[in-house]
Amino acid sequence: MALICHCEAVRDRAIVKAIHRGAHTLGDVQAACGAATRCGGCEPAVLELLERHTDQAVSLRPVFGLSA
Ligand code: FES
Repeated sequence: MALICHCEAVRDRAIVKAIHRGAHTLGDVQAACGAATRCGGCEPAVLELLERHTDQAVSLRPVFGLSA
């Protein structure tokens, strides 16, 4: 459990939770948990989490028969 956004004290778990609840863009994550809304220093880490966990969601689609 890592602190990703020091300005807003947002941990990786909160960001991943936001992604799993439908956040697919930096703006979505910002609105959901406040990460990356001040200095922007955590943006690369937030984008990395978005990329990693969004890819996971996309790769599950064929398993559950969901269309893109
Ligand atoms: S560290 Fe996230 S906005 Fe500053």
